[in-house]
Amino acid sequence: MSALLEISHLRVEVPTRHARLVALDDVSLSIRPGEIMGLIGESGAGKSMLGASVTGLLPSPARIAAGEIRLEGERIDNLPPAAMRHLRGARIGAIFQDPMTTLDPLFTIGEQLMETLRAHRPLSRAEARAEALRWLVEVGIPAPEPRLESYPHEFSGGMRQRIVIALALCAGPRLVIADEPTTALDVSVQAQIIALLRRLAREKGTAILLVTHDMGVIAEACDRVAVLYAGRLAEVGPVGALTQRPRHPYAAGLMASIPPVDRRLPQLPQIEGAMPRLAAIPAGCAFHPRCARALPHCTAERPPLMPGESQAACWEPIEHVHG
Ligand SMILES: Nc1ncnc2c1ncn2[C@@H]1O[C@H](COP(=O)(O)OP(=O)(O)OP(=O)(O)O)[C@@H](O)[C@H]1O
Ligand SMILES: [Mg+2]
Repeated sequence: MSALLEISHLRVEVPTRHARLVALDDVSLSIRPGEIMGLIGESGAGKSMLGASVTGLLPSPARIAAGEIRLEGERIDNLPPAAMRHLRGARIGAIFQDPMTTLDPLFTIGEQLMETLRAHRPLSRAEARAEALRWLVEVGIPAPEPRLESYPHEFSGGMRQRIVIALALCAGPRLVIADEPTTALDVSVQAQIIALLRRLAREKGTAILLVTHDMGVIAEACDRVAVLYAGRLAEVGPVGALTQRPRHPYAAGLMASIPPVDRRLPQLPQIEGAMPRLAAIPAGCAFHPRCARALPHCTAERPPLMPGESQAACWEPIEHVHG
């Protein structure tokens, strides 16, 4: 059992008055200890839904309709809310784009950090305070001592996000789900946070699922990358292969839309059209209406993940000539 997180055949549905929309469809993904998995895809692809499925924070009425999620071998997709809450503090750290979803406006950040620390580790108040200070330094809060007594609203947005990151990491989780954790931060802070996540993965073997729009962050931080399209996995593989030799036409289009860092990637046209709404996902491959390579078969049958340097859900994956 080498996977720390194992998602198998996950299906998330959103019931509406007219239909049961499928927000995630047969998604399988695993992350090993110490591995940083990037998750990319355009807005509405299901990245946050995937993260929320793991943390047990799916927005109502979305629900897991099929599949399994395992953390260190143990099923966590069907835990009662209280057990899930405990897991979230102790073994899974969650970082979201908006820090105020995590912080309690009524308590000082020192109180919040110390409470989280003491809920999961047998620390005295003095020890918890010292540890809280250490974490504030770790996430780059200058002169943290007096800041322990401050309330969330007394910090800038960037500082608040660093505190959320400290809160998510301080209990020593085995898995971190970070949903656009650095989007609101300026570039130097972003680099610092990414470096912190990498160090955590390397030194503590923490597995990290990192949702981001930023291909620079992907290249800098991730070991592997997964590409979602209309709630389905389009491609997953090592970061180098996937960014330089994408096999799924959608992944290739995504890569072509960013400035080339490596000239081996041929110039591909940007993708025309838009991702389908959940209520209108076409038959066969969800990408076929936008795909220049689509064959008649692509309109009829959904492609499985094809093995290769990376795995691509495509009947006709792009071949790359090596050399
Ligand atoms: N609370 C909700 N109720 C119903 N549908 C939702 C809800 N939240 C998201 N969805 C739908 O689920 C799908 C996936 O949304 P999700 O938020 O996971 O996308 P995303 O990839 O995280 O996008 P973004 O890059 O904009 O954050 C979208 O079609 C979205 O409209
Ligand atoms: Mg999102």
